[in-house]
Amino acid sequence: MDMLAVELGPLSLANPILTASGTFGGSDEMADFFDLSRLGAIVLKTVTLHPRRGNRPPRVAETPFGMLNSIGLPNGGIDYFIENQLPVLREIPTTRVVNVAGDTVDQFIEGVRRLDAAGGMDAFELNISCPNVEGGRLPFGSDPKVTEVLVRGVRGVTDLPLIVKLSPNVTDVVVIAQAAAAGGADVLSLINTLLGMAIDPRTKRPKLGSNFGGLSGPAIKPVAVKMVWEVSRSVDLPVIGIGGIRDVDDVIEFLLAGASAVQVGTANYLEPTVIPRLLDELPPRLEELGVSQVTDLIGAVRPFEEI
Ligand SMILES: Cc1cc2nc3c(=O)[nH]c(=O)nc-3n(C[C@H](O)[C@H](O)[C@H](O)COP(=O)(O)O)c2cc1C
Repeated sequence: MDMLAVELGPLSLANPILTASGTFGGSDEMADFFDLSRLGAIVLKTVTLHPRRGNRPPRVAETPFGMLNSIGLPNGGIDYFIENQLPVLREIPTTRVVNVAGDTVDQFIEGVRRLDAAGGMDAFELNISCPNVEGGRLPFGSDPKVTEVLVRGVRGVTDLPLIVKLSPNVTDVVVIAQAAAAGGADVLSLINTLLGMAIDPRTKRPKLGSNFGGLSGPAIKPVAVKMVWEVSRSVDLPVIGIGGIRDVDDVIEFLLAGASAVQVGTANYLEPTVIPRLLDELPPRLEELGVSQVTDLIGAVRPFEEI
């Protein structure tokens, strides 16, 4: 077996490095930078049942060791996606993951049903960090009951692997992870962005047009590693670690914490070829560490005993 190959529940990937939704385009926009067949999997920007315009600009702001965004999931809607992006996606020779969101549980279900019928993807990732319009605008992923109902509903309309992407903006991420598992998730991915705000002292205006947004980048990595550690110990599903990855030891850290694979997001903006660089650096780094298979690292952290 290839030293980098990993199993993510029903998915077999050539390597553990995936793109993070929203940071790598909606089909093959990044193909000019490197051969996309190198990706462990491509995860596309969120699509929603209906078209969305996104949020008022400015939509991004730099912060120390990270960035805030309030993009607001602009996209042409699922029918547009099926007609214009899916044919391009079908030609990308790697595992293809379509990330889906909705304003209501029914929109998630209908969206996945239509995509599944169209075919051409290998898995779905559910972005449950968006607000639930029927539930007082709290994110779906902040309520375990809603999470379970949503995942079970989507499970009923597709046989493809279901990755449920968890929000860190909760009191106990393990409870939400367990709810996603109970609803029939195959894989969990975490974390989405952490809520944050930045204000310009001269104008007294928030730096984002929607006042606050989501924090990403190296600043959030320790939060993500801790959540991956606790979720992977408590839930019997493979986990994809996300948050601030830009170097090969960041990848290794997430694997040690219990992730079976990782997604790279914000780093793509600084270095569009970060993923092929990490793929080049990973095998020699594994050799240096005396590891023959990347899977040997998964969950191999040696936590201190509680005293
Ligand atoms: C500009 C931007 C847009 C994003 N858009 C999406 C999105 O459409 N859907 C989604 O599930 N996550 C989205 N994310 C969250 C990322 O996929 C990822 O979970 C998060 O940024 C943490 O990883 P990172 O620190 O490597 O960026 C977005 C992040 C950024 C920075």
